Amino acid sequence: MKDFRDKVAVITGGASGIGLATAQALAKLGARIVLADIESDALASAVADLGSAGAKVIGVRTDVGDRASVSALAEKAWSEFGRVDILFNNAGVAVFGPTQTMTHSDWDWSIRVNLWGPIHGVEAFAQRMVEEKHGGHILFTASFAGLVPNRELGPYCVTKFGVVALAECLQKDLRSSGIGVSVLCPMRVTSRIDFSFRNRPTDLGGPAANRTYTEEERAALQGRELGAAQVADLVVEAIRENRLYIHTHSEARQYVKRRWERMDSAFDFAL
Ligand SMILES: NC(=O)c1ccc[n+]([C@@H]2O[C@H](COP(=O)([O-])OP(=O)(O)OC[C@H]3O[C@@H](n4cnc5c(N)ncnc54)[C@H](O)[C@@H]3O)[C@@H](O)[C@H]2O)c1
Repeated sequence: MKDFRDKVAVITGGASGIGLATAQALAKLGARIVLADIESDALASAVADLGSAGAKVIGVRTDVGDRASVSALAEKAWSEFGRVDILFNNAGVAVFGPTQTMTHSDWDWSIRVNLWGPIHGVEAFAQRMVEEKHGGHILFTASFAGLVPNRELGPYCVTKFGVVALAECLQKDLRSSGIGVSVLCPMRVTSRIDFSFRNRPTDLGGPAANRTYTEEERAALQGRELGAAQVADLVVEAIRENRLYIHTHSEARQYVKRRWERMDSAFDFAL
């Protein structure tokens, strides 16, 4: 997709961070925006800001973990704008701690938002986009944690590995339809991800304490965090060039290579 003017982009988790920055970047290029988020106040203020900057935008309160809510989002997008060209399955949450101490609701909430969310997006939008026969692009926000296991991020990694697989499978299946697929795999980006618990439903263990960092952890992150707007520019470029993998941090490359080398060397013992 080379031209974004009047294209319709649906973005989940659009009220903050990477989703909002991508909405701003696409709106600047003339796209019409459907912003979806679970957080009503943040959504209303993001829609107001985008609108006052000249964007054609609507906000739809959506819980991506709820299939009916994502179906309603699709209905709203099509009834308002008559088409959907870009779907960005971006909403996500993170739970931190050793894998062995994760509670059932830690798993449940992570899987609901991070994995069922994008699956619901595919269910509600993908085939309908295919049938419209005007091409398009479907994106997912996974993470570096969807490519390489990270300590104290078990449920997050499990869901994000799933998101990478979902994008890779969908890309193969949509190849003949003219719909591109991309999966974003960032390391640290400035956002409100460490405050994910603000959106955790009480029946799934929340709201609870946010992620805190030791001095050592903060020092280790120094200079390695990208701005959401920088990442949004990479997302737009990937749609333009139809790139499957969107890597953001060059430093991630060595860890991905090492994982594949570890896996490859285990073949020495295969029959
Ligand atoms: N920030 C990072 O360092 C980083 C790194 C790798 C991947 N990611 C991923 O980027 C994506 C965007 O997160 P972000 O970093 O911009 O964080 P963020 O918290 O700023 O934005 C996430 C948005 O998702 C919304 N959301 C949460 N639960 C939802 C639900 N059930 N339904 C709909 N919306 C919901 C939140 O209200 C929020 O507006 C996530 O998938 C996250 O896992 C972030």
